Amino acid sequence: MDSNIYLPNLMIVEKITQEAPGVKTLRLKFKDEEFGQKFEFKAGQFAEYSAFGEGECTFCIASSPTRKGYVECTFREAGRVTSALAKLEEGDTMGFRGPYGNTFPIDEWKGKNLLFIAGGIALPPMRCVIWNTLDTRENFGDISIVYGAKSPADLVYKHELKEWGERPDVKLAVTVDPGGETPDWKGEVGFVPAVVEKMNPSPENTIAIVCGPPIMIKMTFPVLDKLGFKPENIYTTLENRMKCGVGKCGRCNVGEKYVCKDGPVFSRLELEALPAEY
Ligand SMILES: Cc1cc2nc3c(=O)[nH]c(=O)nc-3n(C[C@H](O)[C@H](O)[C@H](O)COP(=O)(O)OP(=O)(O)OC[C@H]3O[C@@H](n4cnc5c(N)ncnc54)[C@H](O)[C@@H]3O)c2cc1C
Ligand code: FES
Repeated sequence: MDSNIYLPNLMIVEKITQEAPGVKTLRLKFKDEEFGQKFEFKAGQFAEYSAFGEGECTFCIASSPTRKGYVECTFREAGRVTSALAKLEEGDTMGFRGPYGNTFPIDEWKGKNLLFIAGGIALPPMRCVIWNTLDTRENFGDISIVYGAKSPADLVYKHELKEWGERPDVKLAVTVDPGGETPDWKGEVGFVPAVVEKMNPSPENTIAIVCGPPIMIKMTFPVLDKLGFKPENIYTTLENRMKCGVGKCGRCNVGEKYVCKDGPVFSRLELEALPAEY
């Protein structure tokens, strides 16, 4: 049975956080604690999470590899499996298999400035990298984060945004869409690409990591071009539909690339070589 690549690890739901309407974070502990302590992954990787009797779905690993013994996922209720996962309670058991896919090349970014740009529910893959780099802060130059959502209620990781905002070694801009602001909102109002342009980050020795809905990514790339960022210094992560996660079923391909094995992390230079369908 151990050789079955589709056999999930059993995980106990240790903590549930309601992040935003329809969006939850689950902290999962390995039922086999010894295995859990040895479990390793790298920032950018994803996994298949299962609700028994319903099926599997794909989420990034949203916690940092620097924090051992558990993994976290953050998901929006979208359909069959995510609705079943949303009904779980603390202490319940679910399945997890992974880690899969490639990783953000964090080791190559040592000594560089990092600019994180995220929108909506796409903060989870970036949260993994943000905590990874903050937990090894001495390895990096300036760290800037621009994050936006439709309204203040839709922002995820609200307590962590506060923590990042209070750190002297992080520059944080949180924005909501025009019209989404509430009377007590004290952050920016504007779409993410406009806030990036206003922040005017230097491309010098800087890596930009962009995760968000396709329209946000499409509108952010020209802003980064205008600021002088080179395509090889811009990274994103793709969310093509997947089934097996391990390069067997052919469900996730873009041209000759399997997003589950060659991705999900791609530099913009690599994306430019792919067919436009991604
Ligand atoms: C590498 C990767 C990482 C992901 N990380 C996250 C994450 O961290 N958090 C999160 O909430 N979601 C993430 N997703 C998307 C997530 O996999 C889907 O939302 C989930 O599988 C839906 O499962 P379901 O059974 O509940 O919905 P289904 O019943 O299968 O589908 C419900 C609706 O969602 C649409 N849908 C399903 N999957 C996708 C997709 N990949 N892209 C666009 N539309 C889709 C369907 O077309 C349908 O309209 C990720 C996907 C990939 C490939
Ligand atoms: S998900 Fe099966 S090949 Fe990529």
